[in-house]
Amino acid sequence: PEVVNVTNLTKILGVRLEMLVRTMHRLGMENATHDHLLNSDEASLIAMELDLNPIVDSEAAIDLYPRILPADMSSFPLRPPVVTIMGHVDHGKTTLLDTLRKTAVAAGEAGGITQHIGAFSVDLPSGKRITFLDTPGHAAFSAMRSRGANVTDIVVLVVAADDGVMPQTIEAIKHAQAANVPIVVAINKCDKHDADPRKAKEGLLQHGIQLEEFGGETPAVEVSGITGLGLPELEETVVTLAEVLELRADKGGAAEGVVIESQVEKGRGTMATVLVKQGTLTVGSYIVAGTTWCKIRSMTDDKGRPVKEAGPGAPVKVIGWKEMPNAGDEILQAEDEALAKTVVENRITKQQRETQLRDLEVINDKRRKDK
Ligand code: GTP
Ligand code: MG
Repeated sequence: PEVVNVTNLTKILGVRLEMLVRTMHRLGMENATHDHLLNSDEASLIAMELDLNPIVDSEAAIDLYPRILPADMSSFPLRPPVVTIMGHVDHGKTTLLDTLRKTAVAAGEAGGITQHIGAFSVDLPSGKRITFLDTPGHAAFSAMRSRGANVTDIVVLVVAADDGVMPQTIEAIKHAQAANVPIVVAINKCDKHDADPRKAKEGLLQHGIQLEEFGGETPAVEVSGITGLGLPELEETVVTLAEVLELRADKGGAAEGVVIESQVEKGRGTMATVLVKQGTLTVGSYIVAGTTWCKIRSMTDDKGRPVKEAGPGAPVKVIGWKEMPNAGDEILQAEDEALAKTVVENRITKQQRETQLRDLEVINDKRRKDK
């Protein structure tokens, strides 16, 4: 028999958990915890109580959902922290990351402005690994950036010591705080003669960042992306914080992840940079993202080397997509091609139905106003 848990039913019905729990209680269903399993009759009853017309068609209800992780993850292995670099335009995010991975992406970028979210891993001498996301600096891309914060464990907030706290610094602080992600401050450009780290720190204090050296809990490191000053300390600080956070993931089971960016590359077709969150992606397996799917033809790591598999915390370029997925899309593995196709078809149908409903609402609204 078809079963669904409470959390997934909220997603299927598009209602908030509180709403679903209240409805269940009204129907006399006592157990409404997030992982409680419901059969299709119970699920239909709840849907009808919410004035939604359930389609009692098990085929049409097939979708993929992320696993429910146990509250106690201590039996799972540690994974690398995912660190997003944020900060004001030109404060040196890309330069900092380039020095960290010793490449020169910044020099090749059109106009020196980061256009995509890049993702890559840095291996430290200690054997530890950090996964970095480079987000665009322009205000116009703040939507993309806020999405970046969702997969982020730690935000490295770059503040140029010669410029101090600026509008997008404040915006980044708000994003991190809203997502409840801890911040490590990198006071950058400390090699410059007009660098004033003290002033930058005071600016941060004024915007609610309680720095360690002033008795708070947010660490700050003085760095230079150009000379490499302070970068080992920055990495060390990130690793120490990650240890406190005890980030663990399940390497087994169906792969789950998120699309960081996607593009069509000449001669190679559609590709997406994927960050694995749970499970392990393997060449030949099937994954679904939004309303497209992929039989993984090949994968390359952030250095362009072909890899056969990628575990939690690893960013990989995935090739084999039917259509281009969107940045921010959730990735879920399907057992086989048939399931991947069914899920995508169902999602498309659901989307079309939602569009029709919205259109109907607009028409009804207009009619009401015309009367
Ligand atoms: P956007 O992606 O456009 O938001 O910029 P960004 O924050 O990635 O800044 P980027 O790394 O492109 O650097 C902007 C400018 O500052 C470049 O001219 C860099 O050479 C310079 N710069 C970056 N870091 C440092 C540093 O530590 N010291 C000095 N002196 N200059 C730096
Ligand atoms: Mg940049």
